[in-house]
Order: sequence, then C-alpha cells, then structure tokens
Amino acid sequence: MSKKISLSGIQPSGKPHIGNYFAMMKQLVDQQEEYDVYALIVDYHAMKSVKNPKVMKENIINVVLDYLAIGLDPEKVTFFKQSDVSEHTELCWIFDTITTMPYLMRAHAFKDAQAKNKEIDVGTFNYPVLMAADILLYNPDIIPVGADQKQHVEIARDIAEKFNNNFGQTFKLPEAVIMKDVAVVPGTDGRKMSKSYNNTIPLFSEYEEIKKIVMSIVTDSKEGIPKNVYAIHNLLRPATELLPLYESKAGKYKELKELLIEDLEKFIAPLREKRKEFAKDIPKALAILKTGGKKAKKIASLKMNEVREKIGVNVYE
Ligand code: TYM
Repeated sequence: MSKKISLSGIQPSGKPHIGNYFAMMKQLVDQQEEYDVYALIVDYHAMKSVKNPKVMKENIINVVLDYLAIGLDPEKVTFFKQSDVSEHTELCWIFDTITTMPYLMRAHAFKDAQAKNKEIDVGTFNYPVLMAADILLYNPDIIPVGADQKQHVEIARDIAEKFNNNFGQTFKLPEAVIMKDVAVVPGTDGRKMSKSYNNTIPLFSEYEEIKKIVMSIVTDSKEGIPKNVYAIHNLLRPATELLPLYESKAGKYKELKELLIEDLEKFIAPLREKRKEFAKDIPKALAILKTGGKKAKKIASLKMNEVREKIGVNVYE
C-alpha cells in the first residue's frame, strides 16, 4: 500500500526561526518514515517581499541547507522549489477563474494589509490561490502548519470542492495538521514569533546571538515568573518540569534567563553544527533540490494533464 502524503512549505524570505521549526519543520522530520513527505520552498510566494535577485538566490540555498540540517532525508523526502514546477502557476490561473474576489477579500492576510492602509499588490491578494495550487497538485492527505496557515488550507479545500463540483472529482481535500502546543509560537515580546515583529529566535543562532536575544527579553512577570521567558522555555521543557523550577526561582530573572540560554544552546548547537557541515558542499545541496524538482514536476504534470482534460482544453489526440 502506498504511503499517505504530507506536504508543507516555507517562504525563502530570511532566516527561519524556532516558530517555523516547532510548528512545521519538525513535523515534517517526524513524519518522514510514515509519510511520503514533500517539503516546498515557495520562492514565488516570497517574491512578495524579496525583490533582490541576489538575496533570493541566497535565501533559496539557505532553506535547502536548513531542511538538510534539521534532518530531512533527501532519500525519503522530496525537496523542491515552486519555481521548478511551472504547473503551480498554471493551476493557480485556472483556480483564479473559479474563485471570487469577495471570497478572497475575507482572507486574513488581505484584511490585515487593508487595515494597515497598505497598497496591496495582486500577488498578495492572490497568495492563497497559488498556495491552493501548491497543495492540490500532489494529492496530499495532511498539511502540517502553524495556526496562521489554517485559513489558507481551508481556502485550498474550498477551491478543490468548487473545482470537483464543476468539473468532476479531481482533487483530494487535505487536512491541516496544527500541533496544539505550538500552534502559535510566541516571540520574545509575547506576540506571535514573526520576522516582521523582530521578536524571533533564529533556528541556527550562534551562542552569542542566543544570549543577546534572551537577555533582552522584557521581564513582564506574574508572581515573579517572567511570562515571555517561560513561554519560550516551555517549547523545550514540559510544564511539569518547568513550573516548579520557575516557582523555586521566582523573581530571579537573570538566573532563569541563563537557564533558558543553556537549554536553547543545547537544542540549537547540534543543528547549527550540522548546517555548517552541509554548507561546505553547496553544489550537492543544489543537486538535491534539482532532483526533487524533477520528481515533483513529473507528478504535477500528470495532475495538470488530468486538469486540462477535465476543463476541456486537451483537443489533440
Ligand atoms: P511561512 O514561510 O510564513 O512559515 C512557514 C511555517 O511556519 C509556521 N509559523 C509559525 N507557527 C507557529 N508559530 C509561529 N510564530 C509561526 N511563524 C510561522 C507557519 O504557519 C508555516 O507553517 N503560506 C506559507 C507557505 C506555503 C505553504 C504552501 C505551506 C506556501 N504554499 C503549501 C503549506 C503548503 C507561509 O507563508 O509560511
């Protein structure tokens, strides 16, 4: 029996942080034995924010190294970048023709941009439709993501249903898998960890960087327990262990921060070292990406052929 499929992706828009890791990257690593895993690098999505070609290239290579360093095995997992499989943008157009503007105007990312009076580009507006194509081309069963992507997976399901209703059963409806404890990983200021809030702990930080970040956490505390420090610490140790520790050291902020630094270093150091090893052979990492792209392209082109057949544009024998 063939394995179930798990698919997820990340934008090559800067350094990944521990929020990306716990919500999505770690899930892919844990699933690679049981599932057929697809790990995407969504470079066309990242074009929203990355407009410099040199930075884009570096960012793509960096995500490949990140994926390898966290333990994704290229023998088991298909790593690829969206731009290697033109079927994504092709299917996006077809989905555009069955998706209404009022429907997309309900998307959180669009509403947030609108609330901030931003000049919204069509790519930002259409972002969830390209993501639906990323997903639906591969018939995945599950999509491991953080809570902020829940709505996007729902949009993919809605689009799949609409297409199936119009043109006949073509796409499987995937389920978002959101791990409860890490659905929204908090940043150093207690808000959601996000590059745009400047509150991240980069996944491959050097020791000095970890120290600087942790020492700068604002110690907003309740009964001597600094909640932002605790929330991050809780990613690494269970509450049953952590609460008595924090209670016994209530008010000793410096000591608690030093403990967090130690635990973060224990967790990050091996990943950081592995990443340095992989970074010694960039051509090898790129060959892995290229091979993954070829494999994904084969699957996506078969699906696209089915789609073309269904919509009636396949007129040749
Ligand atoms: P991106 O690049 O913003 O983030 C990658 C993954 O990290 C999760 N994440 C978080 N989870 C918990 N707490 C946080 N603070 C936090 N910050 C980020 C995100 O939920 C995500 O799972 N649209 C996607 C990329 C994408 C995709 C796809 C994902 C494009 N096509 C197809 C799955 C399937 C995005 O921008 O993720």
